[in-house]
Amino acid sequence: MSDRLKIAVLISGSGSNLQAIIDAIQKDNIPCDIQLVVSNQALAYGLKRAEYANLKTKIIDHTSFPDRLTFDQAIGDAIDRAGAELVVLAGFMRIFSHWFVNRYRNKLINIHPSLLPKFKGLDTHVRTLSEGETHHGASVHLVTPELDTGPNILQGRITVHSNDTPESLQNRVHQIEHRIYPTVIQWLATHRLVINETSMVLDHQPLTTNGKVIDYEDI
Ligand code: GAR
Repeated sequence: MSDRLKIAVLISGSGSNLQAIIDAIQKDNIPCDIQLVVSNQALAYGLKRAEYANLKTKIIDHTSFPDRLTFDQAIGDAIDRAGAELVVLAGFMRIFSHWFVNRYRNKLINIHPSLLPKFKGLDTHVRTLSEGETHHGASVHLVTPELDTGPNILQGRITVHSNDTPESLQNRVHQIEHRIYPTVIQWLATHRLVINETSMVLDHQPLTTNGKVIDYEDI
Protein backbone atom coordinates (compact mmCIF):
# COMPACT_ATOMS: atom_id res chain seq x y z
CA MET A 1 0.00 0.00 0.00
CA SER A 2 1.30 3.48 -0.89
CA ASP A 3 2.02 5.76 2.03
CA ARG A 4 1.83 8.85 -0.14
CA LEU A 5 -0.80 11.40 0.84
CA LYS A 6 -3.51 11.65 -1.82
CA ILE A 7 -5.00 15.12 -2.19
CA ALA A 8 -7.61 16.93 -4.25
CA VAL A 9 -7.04 20.63 -4.95
CA LEU A 10 -10.04 22.89 -5.56
CA ILE A 11 -9.56 26.16 -7.45
CA SER A 12 -11.55 28.94 -9.07
CA GLY A 13 -8.91 31.15 -10.65
CA SER A 14 -5.26 31.65 -11.45
CA GLY A 15 -4.07 28.67 -9.43
CA SER A 16 -0.75 30.16 -8.32
CA ASN A 17 -1.09 28.28 -5.02
CA LEU A 18 -1.78 25.07 -6.94
CA GLN A 19 1.42 25.76 -8.92
CA ALA A 20 3.41 26.30 -5.72
CA ILE A 21 2.13 22.96 -4.40
CA ILE A 22 2.92 21.15 -7.67
CA ASP A 23 6.44 22.64 -7.69
CA ALA A 24 7.11 21.86 -4.03
CA ILE A 25 5.97 18.24 -4.34
CA GLN A 26 8.55 17.78 -7.10
CA LYS A 27 11.35 19.92 -5.74
CA ASP A 28 11.13 18.88 -2.10
CA ASN A 29 10.16 15.29 -2.83
CA ILE A 30 7.00 15.54 -0.73
CA PRO A 31 5.30 12.13 -0.45
CA CYS A 32 2.05 13.46 -1.85
CA ASP A 33 0.07 12.98 -5.06
CA ILE A 34 -2.48 15.40 -6.48
CA GLN A 35 -5.18 12.96 -7.55
CA LEU A 36 -7.54 15.59 -8.95
CA VAL A 37 -7.88 19.33 -9.56
CA VAL A 38 -11.46 20.59 -9.51
CA SER A 39 -12.52 24.02 -10.74
CA ASN A 40 -15.96 25.57 -10.63
CA GLN A 41 -14.83 27.97 -13.38
CA ALA A 42 -14.28 26.50 -16.84
CA LEU A 43 -11.82 29.26 -17.79
CA ALA A 44 -9.71 29.17 -14.63
CA TYR A 45 -6.03 29.42 -15.58
CA GLY A 46 -5.27 26.92 -12.83
CA LEU A 47 -6.79 24.21 -15.05
CA LYS A 48 -4.06 24.90 -17.61
CA ARG A 49 -1.40 24.67 -14.92
CA ALA A 50 -2.85 21.29 -13.89
CA GLU A 51 -2.88 20.05 -17.47
CA TYR A 52 0.76 21.14 -17.99
CA ALA A 53 1.60 19.06 -14.92
CA ASN A 54 -0.35 16.07 -16.32
CA LEU A 55 -2.87 16.17 -13.50
CA LYS A 56 -6.43 14.96 -13.78
CA THR A 57 -8.91 17.84 -13.88
CA LYS A 58 -12.64 18.24 -13.59
CA ILE A 59 -14.87 21.26 -14.12
CA ILE A 60 -17.91 21.31 -11.87
CA ASP A 61 -19.78 24.50 -12.70
CA HIS A 62 -21.89 25.67 -9.76
CA THR A 63 -24.33 27.45 -12.08
CA SER A 64 -25.51 24.14 -13.53
CA PHE A 65 -26.80 22.88 -10.16
CA PRO A 66 -30.17 23.79 -8.62
CA ASP A 67 -28.72 24.49 -5.17
CA ARG A 68 -25.60 24.50 -3.01
CA LEU A 69 -26.14 20.99 -1.66
CA THR A 70 -26.34 19.22 -5.02
CA PHE A 71 -23.23 21.13 -6.18
CA ASP A 72 -21.40 20.11 -3.02
CA GLN A 73 -22.49 16.49 -3.48
CA ALA A 74 -21.07 16.47 -7.02
CA ILE A 75 -17.76 17.84 -5.72
CA GLY A 76 -17.73 15.26 -2.92
CA ASP A 77 -18.41 12.43 -5.36
CA ALA A 78 -15.50 13.55 -7.58
CA ILE A 79 -13.15 13.80 -4.58
CA ASP A 80 -14.12 10.36 -3.32
CA ARG A 81 -13.87 8.75 -6.76
CA ALA A 82 -10.34 10.17 -7.02
CA GLY A 83 -9.47 8.56 -3.69
CA ALA A 84 -8.32 11.82 -2.09
CA GLU A 85 -7.69 11.80 1.64
CA LEU A 86 -7.19 15.57 2.03
CA VAL A 87 -9.09 18.40 0.32
CA VAL A 88 -7.01 21.51 -0.32
CA LEU A 89 -8.92 24.72 -1.09
CA ALA A 90 -6.61 26.96 -3.14
CA GLY A 91 -8.55 30.06 -4.10
CA PHE A 92 -11.84 28.16 -4.37
CA MET A 93 -14.35 30.97 -4.16
CA ARG A 94 -17.54 29.12 -3.18
CA ILE A 95 -18.91 28.72 0.31
CA PHE A 96 -19.61 25.11 1.25
CA SER A 97 -22.70 23.70 2.92
CA HIS A 98 -22.38 22.38 6.46
CA TRP A 99 -23.01 18.96 4.96
CA PHE A 100 -19.80 19.20 2.89
CA VAL A 101 -17.69 20.57 5.72
CA ASN A 102 -18.85 17.80 8.02
CA ARG A 103 -18.22 15.15 5.39
CA TYR A 104 -14.56 16.22 5.18
CA ARG A 105 -14.23 17.12 8.85
CA ASN A 106 -10.52 17.38 9.75
CA LYS A 107 -9.61 16.67 6.11
CA LEU A 108 -10.39 20.07 4.61
CA ILE A 109 -7.89 22.95 4.63
CA ASN A 110 -8.02 26.46 3.20
CA ILE A 111 -5.68 29.37 2.59
CA HIS A 112 -6.87 32.88 3.30
CA PRO A 113 -5.11 36.18 2.57
CA SER A 114 -5.11 37.66 6.07
CA LEU A 115 -3.97 36.93 9.59
CA LEU A 116 -7.16 35.21 10.70
CA PRO A 117 -9.24 35.85 12.76
CA LYS A 118 -8.62 39.34 11.35
CA PHE A 119 -10.27 40.17 8.02
CA LYS A 120 -12.46 37.22 7.17
CA GLY A 121 -14.15 37.41 3.78
CA LEU A 122 -13.10 39.56 0.84
CA ASP A 123 -10.91 42.66 0.17
CA THR A 124 -8.44 41.78 2.90
CA HIS A 125 -5.60 43.94 1.54
CA VAL A 126 -7.72 47.09 1.25
CA ARG A 127 -9.13 46.54 4.73
CA THR A 128 -5.66 45.95 6.21
CA LEU A 129 -4.51 49.33 4.87
CA SER A 130 -7.66 51.23 5.83
CA GLU A 131 -7.47 49.87 9.40
CA GLY A 132 -3.84 51.01 9.67
CA GLU A 133 -2.56 47.52 10.51
CA THR A 134 1.17 47.17 11.13
CA HIS A 135 1.18 43.51 10.05
CA HIS A 136 -0.53 41.42 7.39
CA GLY A 137 -0.16 37.94 6.01
CA ALA A 138 -1.84 34.69 5.13
CA SER A 139 -3.31 31.79 7.08
CA VAL A 140 -3.67 28.10 6.37
CA HIS A 141 -6.52 26.82 8.50
CA LEU A 142 -8.76 23.88 9.04
CA VAL A 143 -12.23 24.48 7.60
CA THR A 144 -15.20 24.44 9.96
CA PRO A 145 -18.82 25.27 9.05
CA GLU A 146 -18.58 29.01 9.75
CA LEU A 147 -16.69 30.99 7.08
CA ASP A 148 -12.95 31.59 7.73
CA THR A 149 -13.17 30.61 11.39
CA GLY A 150 -11.51 27.18 11.68
CA PRO A 151 -8.36 26.84 13.78
CA ASN A 152 -5.18 28.13 12.19
CA ILE A 153 -2.43 25.70 11.31
CA LEU A 154 0.23 28.08 9.99
CA GLN A 155 0.36 31.82 9.43
CA GLY A 156 2.97 33.75 7.47
CA ARG A 157 3.34 37.34 8.66
CA ILE A 158 4.86 40.42 7.06
CA THR A 159 5.26 44.04 8.16
CA VAL A 160 3.08 46.51 6.29
CA HIS A 161 5.28 49.20 4.70
CA SER A 162 4.26 52.86 4.57
CA ASN A 163 4.28 52.76 0.76
CA ASP A 164 2.27 49.51 0.43
CA THR A 165 -0.80 49.57 -1.80
CA PRO A 166 -3.52 46.89 -2.04
CA GLU A 167 -1.68 45.58 -5.10
CA SER A 168 1.73 45.42 -3.44
CA LEU A 169 0.20 43.70 -0.41
CA GLN A 170 -1.56 41.20 -2.64
CA ASN A 171 1.72 40.44 -4.32
CA ARG A 172 3.63 40.09 -1.05
CA VAL A 173 0.89 37.94 0.52
CA HIS A 174 0.90 35.66 -2.52
CA GLN A 175 4.61 35.07 -1.98
CA ILE A 176 3.87 34.05 1.60
CA GLU A 177 1.05 31.78 0.52
CA HIS A 178 3.37 30.01 -1.90
CA ARG A 179 5.62 29.14 1.01
CA ILE A 180 3.17 28.28 3.76
CA TYR A 181 0.71 26.10 1.82
CA PRO A 182 3.35 23.64 0.57
CA THR A 183 4.85 23.63 4.08
CA VAL A 184 1.58 22.50 5.64
CA ILE A 185 1.11 19.83 2.97
CA GLN A 186 4.61 18.58 3.64
CA TRP A 187 3.91 18.43 7.38
CA LEU A 188 0.76 16.41 6.76
CA ALA A 189 2.34 14.09 4.18
CA THR A 190 5.26 13.32 6.47
CA HIS A 191 3.03 12.99 9.57
CA ARG A 192 4.81 15.84 11.34
CA LEU A 193 1.32 17.33 11.66
CA VAL A 194 -1.48 15.10 12.90
CA ILE A 195 -5.05 16.37 12.92
CA ASN A 196 -7.61 14.49 14.95
CA GLU A 197 -11.02 15.09 16.48
CA THR A 198 -9.82 17.13 19.41
CA SER A 199 -6.43 18.57 18.54
CA MET A 200 -3.74 19.36 16.02
CA VAL A 201 -0.29 18.17 16.94
CA LEU A 202 2.89 19.43 15.24
CA ASP A 203 6.16 17.68 16.05
CA HIS A 204 4.48 16.08 19.09
CA GLN A 205 3.43 19.50 20.47
CA PRO A 206 -0.24 20.57 20.48
CA LEU A 207 -0.97 23.61 18.27
CA THR A 208 -3.10 26.37 19.74
CA THR A 209 -6.01 27.73 17.65
CA ASN A 210 -3.69 30.57 16.54
CA GLY A 211 -1.46 27.99 14.87
CA LYS A 212 2.24 28.44 14.25
CA VAL A 213 3.38 31.87 13.04
CA ILE A 214 6.40 32.52 10.81
CA ASP A 215 7.66 36.07 10.26
CA TYR A 216 8.95 36.68 6.75
CA GLU A 217 11.50 39.49 6.87
CA ASP A 218 12.57 38.88 3.27
CA ILE A 219 9.15 39.45 1.65
C1 GAR B 1 -5.28 33.46 -2.76
O1 GAR B 1 -4.73 34.70 -2.39
C2 GAR B 1 -6.11 32.88 -1.63
O2 GAR B 1 -5.63 33.23 -0.37
C3 GAR B 1 -7.43 33.52 -1.89
O3 GAR B 1 -7.59 33.48 -3.28
C4 GAR B 1 -6.29 33.63 -3.89
C5 GAR B 1 -6.16 32.55 -4.95
O4 GAR B 1 -5.00 32.76 -5.70
N1 GAR B 1 -8.48 32.81 -1.22
C6 GAR B 1 -9.48 33.41 -0.59
O5 GAR B 1 -9.64 34.61 -0.57
C7 GAR B 1 -10.44 32.46 0.09
N2 GAR B 1 -11.19 33.16 1.09
P1 GAR B 1 -4.49 31.65 -6.70
O6 GAR B 1 -5.68 31.22 -7.57
O7 GAR B 1 -3.44 32.33 -7.52
O8 GAR B 1 -3.96 30.50 -5.91
